[in-house]
Amino acid sequence: MKIHLRVWRQAGPDKPGRLVPYTADNVSPDMSFLEMLDVVNEGLIARGEDPIAFDSDCREGICGTCGFLIDGLPHGPQRGSTVCQLHMRAFSDGDTLVLEPWRARAFPPIKDLVVDRSAFDRIIQAGGYTSINVGGAQDANAILIPKPVVEQAMDSAACIGCGACVAACKNASAVLFTSAKITHLGLVPQGQVERYTRVINMVDRHDAEGFGSCSNEGECEAVCPKEISITNIARMNRDYLKATLIRGVNG
Ligand code: SF4
Ligand code: FES
Repeated sequence: MKIHLRVWRQAGPDKPGRLVPYTADNVSPDMSFLEMLDVVNEGLIARGEDPIAFDSDCREGICGTCGFLIDGLPHGPQRGSTVCQLHMRAFSDGDTLVLEPWRARAFPPIKDLVVDRSAFDRIIQAGGYTSINVGGAQDANAILIPKPVVEQAMDSAACIGCGACVAACKNASAVLFTSAKITHLGLVPQGQVERYTRVINMVDRHDAEGFGSCSNEGECEAVCPKEISITNIARMNRDYLKATLIRGVNG
């Protein structure tokens, strides 16, 4: 296969960027998208040019490090998949693909397809944990939790923090990510003690980082590689409302 690429190249955060054309020859349909980019980069390095910067780590769809737009779609056209799990057989010989980084004010550019997603870390730091002593693994096994609740908590915990939901949202909102992190702790007994302080602190941090509000468009759910449901957002909003009422009562 021959694939034509138009890749966003930007040397640094304050440098101007532009789309640069490249051609990937002899692409195997069994290559992953990132392996195809590796081959393009080997060619660039051999010619003494700067390779295309992009993030990746596990390349197994579990770490959340990879991610960019392919023809405007976060992680590309394959539903429920990260870009590292996307293979070239999803495209046709001769295709032209436009690669761009996530575009959101809260994700400032670093280089080429790499953006700074540390805003997500700061949302987690605001409350995405339990700070009470919940014991060891054997204690967790002693606390019985109904299976449907565990399943729901695990579905929310599947969020890998990639940022595709933000990139897809016209408001650059990160509420799918934030609500998934709030929900997976808010459903289990170990997360109850801090449930209402957590939702206030994490939502306030989300807003302070410059992410937009949710207007129920649903693009986030459509592009999420872990198919996180927007019902997490409804649950977060209910908990936030309850938390503000509790705070009002307690002064
Ligand atoms: S909710 Fe989905 S798209 Fe958003 S950060 Fe988590 S895994 Fe990525
Ligand atoms: S590199 Fe880990 S999810 Fe893609």
